[in-house]
Amino acid sequence: LGHTVHWLAEVGSTNDVARRLAEAGAPEGTVVVADRQAAGRGRLRRAWWSPPGGLWMSLILRPALPPEHLPLLTLAAAAAVAEAAEGLAGRPVQVKWPNDVLIDDRKVAGILLETVSHPHGAEYVVAGIGVNLDVEGEPVPAELAGRLTWLAREAGRRVTRNELAEAILQRLEERYAQLHQEGPGPVLAAWRSRAAWLGEPVRVALPTGEVAGIALDVAPDGSLVVEQAGGRRQRILAGDVQRLRP
Ligand code: BTN
Repeated sequence: LGHTVHWLAEVGSTNDVARRLAEAGAPEGTVVVADRQAAGRGRLRRAWWSPPGGLWMSLILRPALPPEHLPLLTLAAAAAVAEAAEGLAGRPVQVKWPNDVLIDDRKVAGILLETVSHPHGAEYVVAGIGVNLDVEGEPVPAELAGRLTWLAREAGRRVTRNELAEAILQRLEERYAQLHQEGPGPVLAAWRSRAAWLGEPVRVALPTGEVAGIALDVAPDGSLVVEQAGGRRQRILAGDVQRLRP
């Protein structure tokens, strides 16, 4: 992964640039990086604050995986980013279902996977990875302050975008190959070993309401398993998890 890297100054969203390249036939592993994004996107159509100093990167994948394993690419990417960040920052890094990477409960990175399918599976996947690496003195928007951190701050030293991108791509290449060769097991195990809030009471906001219970595990299809009062288990495919503090 990352044999061809397009470094751009400012774009709307690197995911859109990568999509256009993929449509035009760009091979698996093509990477797009931008200094800043004017219209960075997060999950659930949220805006993603993308000031200069961050790593805003999208990667084209052409996975040969059964469709039910595609959501595991998000978990594989989150685990890879966490591994790379931990190696560079020397601090414990956690993952939060489905796509967050946290240090001390503050978000340091997020993953946005976009899949374009054909009848037999995925035609290609754009894996968008956003890491708050440095904010270069820009004021953090008030609504994010307290919920966000950046890697340079946690590491207590300067980390370049290059070394971070390289570390992430290397880890992701390993996890991606593992998913193809060994199935979901090892990726799920790697994700679980860093998972925040498993075993703890949570509340999950869904498009249709909410579910409260214990966050038990992540299932082989990438869904979150929540045990509700009375022991009923529910698998959640998309939602926002909050910890219920005692
Ligand atoms: C999230 O946590 O909601 C996902 C955030 C993903 C942000 C990255 S930055 C690079 C790529 N381009 C985008 O517009 N979004 C992703």
